[in-house]
Amino acid sequence: MQQDKIIVLDFGGQYAHLIANRVRRLGVFTEIFPPTAPVEDFKDAKGIIYSGGPASVYAADAPDYNPEILSIPVPKLGICYGHQLIATQLGGAVRPGKVKEYGIADLTVGDANHPLLKDIPASSPMWMSHGDMVERLPEGYRVIASTKDCPIAAVALDEKQIYGIQFHPEVTHSQYGMKLLDNFISICGCNRTWNMKSFMPLITERIRREVGNRKVFLLVSGGVDSTVAFVLLNKVLGSERVMGLHIDNGMMRLDESQKIIEFLKAEGMMNLRVVDATDAFLSKLAGITAPEEKRKRIGATFLEVKDVEMKKLNLDPSEWMIAQGTIYPDTIESGGTKNADLIKTHHNRVKEVMDLMKQGLLLEPLADLYKDEVRMLGEELGIPHNLVWRHPFPGPGLGVRLLCATGKESFAKESDIEGLAEYLKENRIEGYVLPIKSVGVQGDGRTYAQPFLITTPGLSWKECERLSTELVNRFKVINRVIWQVGSVAADKPQLVEQYATRNNFDTLRKFDNICTEFLQSNGLYEKIWQMPVVLTPLRVAQKPCIVMRPVNSTEAMTANFAQIDQQLLSGLWQQFKADGAGSLWYDVTHKPPGTIEWE
Ligand code: XMP
Repeated sequence: MQQDKIIVLDFGGQYAHLIANRVRRLGVFTEIFPPTAPVEDFKDAKGIIYSGGPASVYAADAPDYNPEILSIPVPKLGICYGHQLIATQLGGAVRPGKVKEYGIADLTVGDANHPLLKDIPASSPMWMSHGDMVERLPEGYRVIASTKDCPIAAVALDEKQIYGIQFHPEVTHSQYGMKLLDNFISICGCNRTWNMKSFMPLITERIRREVGNRKVFLLVSGGVDSTVAFVLLNKVLGSERVMGLHIDNGMMRLDESQKIIEFLKAEGMMNLRVVDATDAFLSKLAGITAPEEKRKRIGATFLEVKDVEMKKLNLDPSEWMIAQGTIYPDTIESGGTKNADLIKTHHNRVKEVMDLMKQGLLLEPLADLYKDEVRMLGEELGIPHNLVWRHPFPGPGLGVRLLCATGKESFAKESDIEGLAEYLKENRIEGYVLPIKSVGVQGDGRTYAQPFLITTPGLSWKECERLSTELVNRFKVINRVIWQVGSVAADKPQLVEQYATRNNFDTLRKFDNICTEFLQSNGLYEKIWQMPVVLTPLRVAQKPCIVMRPVNSTEAMTANFAQIDQQLLSGLWQQFKADGAGSLWYDVTHKPPGTIEWE
């Protein structure tokens, strides 16, 4: 069966994935293309959405774009940057908005009969985030909706089925944003057939075609994605043609691997080998502190261990493909950010993996799917609910949650930062810029900077959110803000030497497990999308300081810190204290500017 498809052009930032994911939720398959894609690539598309992006259309650094795309005879929707780009291409003009509009604005519908605005109330909240806006419309365009500060908020060039909107329908703050995307799908005349039931025959056919008469060797990390991939491959190819290898890298969560292995074996999948390679990984990480270096070493070690195991099994590399559970967001480089900094090296995109791909030796059966789709597919395949809905766990595991330090690094202190003391005084809060760093994302680039710890007790989450946004925006040295749930002493945390050792992972595993049980026993596990727990190289009264980072997200491109009842947290802190923690800190940074993982 042919799936109808809408193509999303990626002009950078986090927008394209959000749009593509939302349209899929409405039942239409989407693919993300760079804006330079040749016209031939669009032959199956029933519609094209031009995403938002951080650049300005006239700027020298504006993403390259193939102008011929506009002549493809299918409906087009430009969002924010995309809307401005189409308008300028057709002879309109864009200028910096008099008032920069960030946040929720009331959209007033001008033409309630327009198909793009069908069933959208006369006035409804939509999310705005732009400086520039369209000032002069190209010929033939007409305005169909506006906001107070943006008279040209939605436009239509009906005879060419070109539409433009200045707001972001893809974010949840836009109450009728989904409705608008749904209307666009109707304009494109798409059948809404995309779901995991209809995906099964497509992927079955694709796997059989790509594998041919070879066999498949899959690294089963124990995470949701690789578990689903393993069950899928077993079903499609049969267990004789699939071999799973679970490499315990010593950085798994408590009993995590065990649970998966037990499930797979109970389902009759005996074609899973388990190897404990803790020593190999730890020796590669000895003395290493830089996060990217750790990630690269972990990624490369997975492949080395895999090679050793394949040799032991005497598998002929010409008969076996390598498979991994990579999902869609990991495969796409953001179009408008091709020159932007690398934020994090994903373990399934290291050089060695890319080499396998070039040689046609790599199979990635989930590479078209978003996380929520992988989970739906998992349920479709009959994997138990509690396994499918486990929190995402990164390939490098606790390796990116155990911060390493020589203890001799130098860092900025509060007194080095101009204006910080005044800011703290004005807001009546106390705290420290901590002598550690974590990764973040701002604009479209990677940051690696210090967290600010607020030690003032009794702050509401709303207050924490405001302070977090302001501190990160005002002070370059700070890219993350954490709030103190509890501490055994009022002393300033001290930096110590800390590396990726078995003992340190055991400590982290213990506190991580306390946090997981806390979520489960309070009915929060499925209400929170993911909750990394980070062991910092900081000590209070010689005891370790730990950060919890509960977040809510749909596809990890953006995330909000989750707001757990603070009464419950004091119970958690008592447990932490009893188990030897020095401090428990709570990350109150959204993504962006913080990433979900600290490294
Ligand atoms: P960040 O930290 O970039 O994480 O906000 C977004 C999501 O990706 C997960 N993550 C990874 N997953 N291999 C993975 O399979 C990796 O190397 C990796 N790094 C981060 C992270 O847990 C979050 O869900």
